[in-house]
Amino acid sequence: MLRNIVMEAPAKVNLTLDVKGKRADGYHELETCMHQIDLLDRVHITEASRITVQSNSSSVPDDESNLAYRAARALLEKCGLRTGVRIFIEKNIPVGAGLAGGSTDAAAVLEGVNDLLGLGLDRFELLEIGATLGSDVPFCLQGGTALARGRGEKLTPLPGGPRINMVLIKPPFQLSTARVYAGLDLNSIIERPDNRAFVAAWERSDLKSMAVNMINVLETVSVARFPEIAEIKNCLIRKGALHSVMSGSGPSVIGLFEPGPAAARAAQKVKERYQEVYLVSSYLRE
Ligand code: C5P
Repeated sequence: MLRNIVMEAPAKVNLTLDVKGKRADGYHELETCMHQIDLLDRVHITEASRITVQSNSSSVPDDESNLAYRAARALLEKCGLRTGVRIFIEKNIPVGAGLAGGSTDAAAVLEGVNDLLGLGLDRFELLEIGATLGSDVPFCLQGGTALARGRGEKLTPLPGGPRINMVLIKPPFQLSTARVYAGLDLNSIIERPDNRAFVAAWERSDLKSMAVNMINVLETVSVARFPEIAEIKNCLIRKGALHSVMSGSGPSVIGLFEPGPAAARAAQKVKERYQEVYLVSSYLRE
C-alpha cells in the first residue's frame, strides 16, 4: 500500500493591513494581522515516483505554476530525494481572492510531505522554504492569528483572543496581488490601522475596539478599480456587521459580527444579492 495523508488547508483573512513603505527588492513592508478561518481546502498527498498536482477545480493549475507543486519540489530537492508525490487539491477556497488559497495548499504540502515521508525537517526549516515560495506561506504554516511584518514572513503569534464570527463575500471577479501592490500610492493613504491598538483589543477580546481598526490600505487601489467592493462593505455593515474590511489584496470582503445568530442571519440576507457568500469562524486546529 502506498502511504497517503490528508491535510486541512485553512484560508487566511487580514483583519488589518498597513503598508509601511516600498523596499529596494520591489516588495512592500507590511504590518498586518492575519487570521485563519474555517474555510478549508483538503490536500491529499500520496507517495509517487514523480510530482503531480490535480484538483476538482478547473481554476487550479495542474503544472509547475502551482505553488503546491513548487512546495513539493523545493522540499524534496532540499532533502536530495528523487522521488515524488501525487497531490490532489479539494478546492473550497475561492482562487485569486485575497484568502491565501494557493499559499495554504503549499504550506499543507510542506508539512504533509515532511510527515508522510518522515523527512524530519523542523519548523524553522519548513518556514525557511515557505518564505522562498510566497509571502503568505510562512503564516499559513504557523497558523492561528499573528501580526506579520516584513514581506509578511516575520511573524509575532497572537495566541488567545476571541473566536470570531464573520460573513465573507467573494465578488465575482479576481484581483492580481502584484497589480494591486503596483497600483499603490503611499502618499494617497489617508486612513491606516493602528495595529498596536488592534492587538490590545484582540487580547482583551474586545470586538468593538477591534472593529475600529479593521482597515486595509490596499482598498485605496482595489476600490478605485472596483467600487463594488465598497458597496459590499456597506451592505455587510447595514446587515449588522460591527465593521467590514477587504482581505489582503482583495477582492474578498469580510464582516465581523457579535457572537450569536447575527452572522448567520446576515449571511442569509446577503445571499439574495451576492452569489459567493460564506459564513465563517476562526479556525481551531483539532
Ligand atoms: O510573495 P508573493 O509571491 O505572494 O507576492 C506576490 C506579489 O505581490 C509580489 O510579486 C509583489 O509584487 C507583491 N507583494 C509586495 N509586497 C509584499 C507581498 C507581495 O509588493 N509584502
